[in-house]
Amino acid sequence: MTAPTITAIRRLYPGLDQPTVLLENAGGSQVPRFVADAIRHHLLRDCVQLGAGYPASDRATATVERAHRFLDRFVNGEGLGRVVLGSSSTSLMHVLAHSVGRTIAAGDEIVVCDQAHESNVGCWLALERLGARIRWWKVDPQTGSLDLAGLKSVLSDRTRIVAFPQVSNLLGEIVDVATATRLAHECGAKVVVDGVAYAPHRAIDVAAWSCDAYVWSTYKVYGPHMGAMFVRTDMLDDPRHPLEGPNHFFIPRSEVPYKFELGGASHEGCAGIVGLAKLLEILAGDAPASPEAAVDELAASADRCTFATVERAFAAMTALEGPVQARLLERLTRHPRVRIIGPSSASTDERVATVSFLRPGLEPRDIVAAAHAAGVGVRHGHMYAHRLCTAMQIPPEPGVVRVSAVHYNTVEEIDRLMDAIDPVIA
Ligand SMILES: Cc1ncc(COP(=O)(O)O)c(C=O)c1O
Repeated sequence: MTAPTITAIRRLYPGLDQPTVLLENAGGSQVPRFVADAIRHHLLRDCVQLGAGYPASDRATATVERAHRFLDRFVNGEGLGRVVLGSSSTSLMHVLAHSVGRTIAAGDEIVVCDQAHESNVGCWLALERLGARIRWWKVDPQTGSLDLAGLKSVLSDRTRIVAFPQVSNLLGEIVDVATATRLAHECGAKVVVDGVAYAPHRAIDVAAWSCDAYVWSTYKVYGPHMGAMFVRTDMLDDPRHPLEGPNHFFIPRSEVPYKFELGGASHEGCAGIVGLAKLLEILAGDAPASPEAAVDELAASADRCTFATVERAFAAMTALEGPVQARLLERLTRHPRVRIIGPSSASTDERVATVSFLRPGLEPRDIVAAAHAAGVGVRHGHMYAHRLCTAMQIPPEPGVVRVSAVHYNTVEEIDRLMDAIDPVIA
């Protein structure tokens, strides 16, 4: 079977069938019809509690278990740790930081980063009142980039945690997780990666990168509104600082992921996550690009989905995104007065298709208004990377204009955006 065409891919997503061009995908992505159908099917047939032993309960239990096992393989983490599910990435990072906080001794150091979305900063700063010392891995104020020399300069033998983004949700630039993790590990620290802005674009490989915790939002990766967090067994069972999840006292510490899932994960959300494996098979060219699929077929896809399929699916997405981000950057850089916030390189090795910019002398809101008037959805703001804006001397309000594409966007959509804003930013 060959890889699907862009037309066939777009037909999978009913949300794309509307007059507005959706170029705000870093905020949230569309879901395939079969993912939405799987959620509906669960709610209408299996909406009961888990583990009670009657048929609907058994099916619901299997769905929740299947979603977790599928995600363990999705991040190439099978046998290395477990994926925990929650309502959002922000809530999961708070859960993790809270558990780490129970092991903190006065003087332990935590490295956070001013490039980050606030979700991977505030929860760690809260540990200061337990005696932790916060060290800042700072961006270059001109480019917003992080460099590894900067990381080295804040690491010490007291470092417990290094928390950083793999991709900034403003800059789109890819940080070298494997090297940063190696440096942190050399100091005995654990690494917590915010992969939210990376995960919609490339395969996550926790085995290759060796990071200890990796967090992403499933609602930005073509699924339901949830967060997911891989946590490595070595971090959970670190003999010096074993972690205990916050769920009820009578749930054993070893019962991961449930011990970290306060009140459990969304069952219907898990049904949607199971459905995502079919999308990967389609993008990998292993299944026909049909927008509909029976629930049993979705379950079978999730059970057989290997990391090799995940990699091929994301390679296909990267190939589709490359020309789209190249066109966006090419058209923006035609304007000498436009300042790209982040790398101006269009290389898919260096960046994802999330591009922010400013046009000095113009209000971001006026650029966005021109796009909206032409039926193109983009936005402006600090996007919760408030500290990054401040570090780069960009007022967080009104922030930057951000355009974010994924595999289902097209060069024609970029042209529609740019035709609308060209006269404004010229
Ligand atoms: C880079 C990044 N990290 C974290 C988050 C927070 O994700 P959630 O909405 O799942 O809490 C976002 C949300 O936009 C983000 O872009």
